[in-house]
Amino acid sequence: MRPFYHAPGVLLLLTWFGTVAQAAVPALIPQPQNLTVQAGEFTLTPETVIAAGPGAGATAEDLADYLRPAMGYRLRVKNVAAEAAPQAGQILLTTNSADIALGAEGYALTTGPGGVLLRAPATAGLFYGVQTLRQLLPPEIYATNRQAAMAWTMPAVTIRDWPRFRWRGYMLDVSRHFFSVAEVRNLLDTLAEHKLNTFHWHLTDDHGWRIEIKQYPRLTEIGAWRPGVGFDFPSNSTTAYDAQGRYGGFYTQKEIKLVVAYAAHRHITVVPEIEMPGHASAALAAYPEYSCTGGPYAAHLDAGIFHGIYDPAKDSTFTFLSNILAEVAPLFPGPYIHIGGDEVPKETWQHSADCQALMQREGLHTEAELQSWFTRRIEKTVSAQGHALLGWSEILQGGLPARAAVMDWIGGAREAAAAGHDVVMSPTGYCYFDFYQSTNRATEPKAASWSGPLTLQHVYAFEPIPTNFPPELAAHILGAQGNLWTEQIPNYRQVQYMTLPRLCALAETVWSAKTARNYPDFLHRLQTQDRR
Ligand code: ACM
Repeated sequence: MRPFYHAPGVLLLLTWFGTVAQAAVPALIPQPQNLTVQAGEFTLTPETVIAAGPGAGATAEDLADYLRPAMGYRLRVKNVAAEAAPQAGQILLTTNSADIALGAEGYALTTGPGGVLLRAPATAGLFYGVQTLRQLLPPEIYATNRQAAMAWTMPAVTIRDWPRFRWRGYMLDVSRHFFSVAEVRNLLDTLAEHKLNTFHWHLTDDHGWRIEIKQYPRLTEIGAWRPGVGFDFPSNSTTAYDAQGRYGGFYTQKEIKLVVAYAAHRHITVVPEIEMPGHASAALAAYPEYSCTGGPYAAHLDAGIFHGIYDPAKDSTFTFLSNILAEVAPLFPGPYIHIGGDEVPKETWQHSADCQALMQREGLHTEAELQSWFTRRIEKTVSAQGHALLGWSEILQGGLPARAAVMDWIGGAREAAAAGHDVVMSPTGYCYFDFYQSTNRATEPKAASWSGPLTLQHVYAFEPIPTNFPPELAAHILGAQGNLWTEQIPNYRQVQYMTLPRLCALAETVWSAKTARNYPDFLHRLQTQDRR
């Protein structure tokens, strides 16, 4: 028997009330690669069972956990054999018989009156399928307390989905202002819901050192604290003070491990950034012996302006940095250690007789070449510790170490890719989430203003493959990320304000097909995302 909704009269009705038919298209962000909406629906009830096939146990528990607060009850999770067929009324998650063409992060999801079937070749794909499943339900499913009298109904759909890019990232600067473990975990949840998979943790900079290093306790005893919140913010804009009223904070190695595990559970790789040779004032306030100037300041700037730089003319500097990296490396199982390398105040090296003598000894003609010499030496350490080195655009100047990857914020993608290096795109014009969000600053809280604004539409228009990029090099573009520098962001509420909804737009630029980009349609879906 043909289902009633194929009757010509009903079709006519749907055509006539075209908007009704349109409203049935679920508001998914990021937009899947393939989505077909069918007639019919599936409703969760207390009897609905989540069946977990091979490889799906943990994700099935995640799904039950996600749904529980708003539903007010937890669905039963049942392990089933590989060959188990989908049962009526069940949600079956499995890696069995998945289409390997979907890739390590792809998934296939079918929902309908008979139940839900989610297949993926790997657990990351199951996890992303679960995120999509949540979005198929009413937005109230994201509530943290029971939503009474809700029908937990999802439309019947068939989805085949996979990401366009494998690096889908977001950076948080915890140096300029500090954010707690709980706040970082909340941000990781937000990334996961948007199918982002990389968290770049900017752990050190001039204004604060945020990671415990057991061999060098002063890094956090001194380097993690400053007299006040700074950047002209009133003291009550934050609660990050110690017992003596100093502003700051740091993560113990135990806390770092917990955050890395929390991220891994959400299929997010954490990339630590330990800045060198510049942006090192906090470290040099604690250990001035590794500076050129005897303290945290650069030689060419007025005293009081932070912009510290390590002294490459001392072997002990490399011992210090290698020992730090030796403690950092095992905490982060991902492939990359980010060593910064941006905005190095090389004039200090120009004014240092020891640095000039070093350059002469090593046949280096410019301070840029000296930075390159420094980076190559650090790269050997990072590599020996089982990681690959990643640095900002400037690590290209003076020559890139063989195995390094580049994070392009002010150019260099093409040059790096042409030389065989991988690149992550985070150009200031599209990816700097610290800029104002509108053209009318008067309507916004204070934000970074040296460039921008970065409107939602601007982020949505971002194309990670640079214009006129040689197609044969495109595979070197791993993906892209948004960067949240926090000079103007004293608390987590402001982090959220600057992150959303622009992160929704970024998620679509790194996950969805380039041809699927449609700003009016995105804005329409964003209304639902806003309720979530
Ligand atoms: C940067 O924004 N200095 C990488």
